[in-house]
Amino acid sequence: MEDSDFEIEYDKETAHFKNGEICFEILVVSELPIEYLAQLESKREEISGRRLWPGSSILGQYLVEMEAQFEGKNVLELGAGTGVCGMLSRRLGAAFVAVTDGDSECISLINQNFQNNGFRDDQYIHSFFLKWGDTVSTAAFSEACPIESFDLIVAGDVLYKKELLDMFFPTARSLLTPHTGRMYLCHLPRAGVTHSLVQEAAGVHGFSFSIQSKTTIHHSEEVEMDDITNSEIYLLTLTE
Ligand SMILES: C[S@@+](CC[C@H](N)C(=O)[O-])C[C@H]1O[C@@H](n2cnc3c(N)ncnc32)[C@H](O)[C@@H]1O
Repeated sequence: MEDSDFEIEYDKETAHFKNGEICFEILVVSELPIEYLAQLESKREEISGRRLWPGSSILGQYLVEMEAQFEGKNVLELGAGTGVCGMLSRRLGAAFVAVTDGDSECISLINQNFQNNGFRDDQYIHSFFLKWGDTVSTAAFSEACPIESFDLIVAGDVLYKKELLDMFFPTARSLLTPHTGRMYLCHLPRAGVTHSLVQEAAGVHGFSFSIQSKTTIHHSEEVEMDDITNSEIYLLTLTE
């Protein structure tokens, strides 16, 4: 059978993000049978964002504690997948949130998640296609998005292949407000992308970082203790 004959049907299921009074029902794609995954590999499709990854659940818990930082801020979520940290940012008081991903199927999931979590008529949260390292996509995003540079960037579990490091950081740099902009990144080592590599790439691309305390993060149905232990939450700012 040719690749083009193989139509993949994605079942959807619901995951949850819960923290205090905040509860989102997140539509994700179900685990796929191995034959499908093999087929996706040969078609070079990218399905990683269509699940809720621990990095976003951990970062989400952390961001709730940082609520005061969101009031009136313009926030960008990079590699949003299902959009949970973007939705959370808006719920915590952000003035405008751009929820972005480089996979168009994720954009459609994000839009459904907006609908299902009370953002249907909210004009201050939008999804945008944005592929790091792709100048055409970056230019189209800048054209479509009303915000030129962001006060805050949030990103959970986005660095799962080494080649993404040199795409992610320059894109983040170009969209973060100089001097005052802050980026919160939750990273779990995946496929050889160690914390050392992330820290080194951040420095090369003009960021300094500090590692944030995880004492407010608790394990739950969505987050295993090992994932919390292996993760780091980075606060990154631009060097002069
Ligand atoms: C492991 S998933 C994490 C998704 C989500 N942040 C979470 O934690 O649930 C990584 C995300 O990065 C996105 N991504 C990968 N390469 C990208 C690129 N070059 N530009 C933009 N997004 C990209 C994928 O589409 C995917 O949604």
